[in-house]
Amino acid sequence: MEEFQVKDKALAPQGHLQIEWASAHMPVLNQVKNRFKKEKPLKGLTLGACLHVTKETAVLAETLMAGGAKVALCGSNPLSTQDDVAAALAEKGVHIFAKRGQTTEEYYWCIDKVLDYKPAITLDDGADLVGTLHSKRTKELANVKGGTEETTTGVIRLRAMEKAGSLKYPIIAVNDAYTKYLFDNRYGTGQSTIDGVIRATNVLISGKTFVVGGYGWCSRGIAMRAQGMGANVIVTEVKPLKALEAAMNGFRVMPMSEAAPIGDIFVTATGDINVIRKEHMQKMKDGAIIANSGHFNVEISIKDLEELSTAKRTIRPNLEEYTLKDGRKLHLLAEGRLVNLSAAEGHPSEVMDMSFANQALCAEYMAKSAKMPPKVFTVPTDIDETVAELKLKSMGIKIDELTEEQKKYLATWEMGTT
Ligand SMILES: NC(=O)c1ccc[n+]([C@@H]2O[C@H](COP(=O)([O-])OP(=O)(O)OC[C@H]3O[C@@H](n4cnc5c(N)ncnc54)[C@H](O)[C@@H]3O)[C@@H](O)[C@H]2O)c1
Repeated sequence: MEEFQVKDKALAPQGHLQIEWASAHMPVLNQVKNRFKKEKPLKGLTLGACLHVTKETAVLAETLMAGGAKVALCGSNPLSTQDDVAAALAEKGVHIFAKRGQTTEEYYWCIDKVLDYKPAITLDDGADLVGTLHSKRTKELANVKGGTEETTTGVIRLRAMEKAGSLKYPIIAVNDAYTKYLFDNRYGTGQSTIDGVIRATNVLISGKTFVVGGYGWCSRGIAMRAQGMGANVIVTEVKPLKALEAAMNGFRVMPMSEAAPIGDIFVTATGDINVIRKEHMQKMKDGAIIANSGHFNVEISIKDLEELSTAKRTIRPNLEEYTLKDGRKLHLLAEGRLVNLSAAEGHPSEVMDMSFANQALCAEYMAKSAKMPPKVFTVPTDIDETVAELKLKSMGIKIDELTEEQKKYLATWEMGTT
């Protein structure tokens, strides 16, 4: 069986340095790795992972291997693989099938390669691996004990499978751990999305009208960081509560149709489809910049953009200029794919430290657990709390402890107004 396939093996030395740099900023995952080295909780197991191939994912792969696992890995987006990291992982013995800039066929070919290893545990980001297992590769389902899912969109898809009675094995929704979405989705996506927009365009954020599609965990992070850089931020939403929260946090809130003619930069992160479409593009200013940070490249209708345009040029990496029939130019970043992973490096290592510590601990939990029913599970509370405690410790932050009197007070109802 083919051991790996990467773009260029010669990139490995740079990849090793990148992984070393990420690892130095991932103290929680390193503690898990050191324990795994001694205890080998994943001994004899094959783990099949479909994750963005970044330097942080490499540290997760090292951790899983330290625990005794064989790891097969492919990318979870055609544009997010860091080729130097992929080359280094091949040298480290990971069965990796990934390169940046894939066609859809190549992308699914890599998923098939991972499934050829017959994983016992799957680690997914967006549920494409799980989707393939449940459609084209059902024979392989018999080998699978359980899985984990990294992102909101994946969890939504898995819950839909569970509801339809199609899910065939248990999956832990890592995304839904507090130590994941409160930090990774908000601060990780917030910072790295702005990073992606800047690397692709190098425009000044300050003074721009910056429209954020959604006010969920990712989009609020983007809104917060854009505001912090001096942009005039507009939020669009479909849920009244989220819209109200955005308004009370000081953002202008309006429908996309009203934001379209005034925005300079648009970023979506909703997990929804066609959030920016023809009717909005028709109203946008000449020179507007459009990007997406939600999981799939469906939030901006590329089809509508293509239909409205007479010409398309690549101005610089990750920046395409579309000329519309009336002469206006709109700029699409990173083909409408996750701008933070395609045009920048994805989340900083410090937040992936917590997300991937959850991944490693949940993989261990799955490996050790008795047979679980085919449902979507939340991350066990003790794993979530352990990750928070270890992260605080690594940051040198101490917190108070409840006194015996306080414990008693909080557990009783008798004492009221005094
Ligand atoms: N870029 C990254 O690295 C990264 C990281 C984590 C998650 N994600 C992805 O980002 C997306 C959002 O994740 P999240 O955790 O913020 O989800 P979330 O559920 O917290 O937020 C999504 C928000 O979008 C709103 N929304 C839905 N349709 C809309 C529409 N048509 N117009 C305006 N608002 C709309 C929802 O009401 C919700 O408030 C998902 O696809 C997720 O997988 C990306």
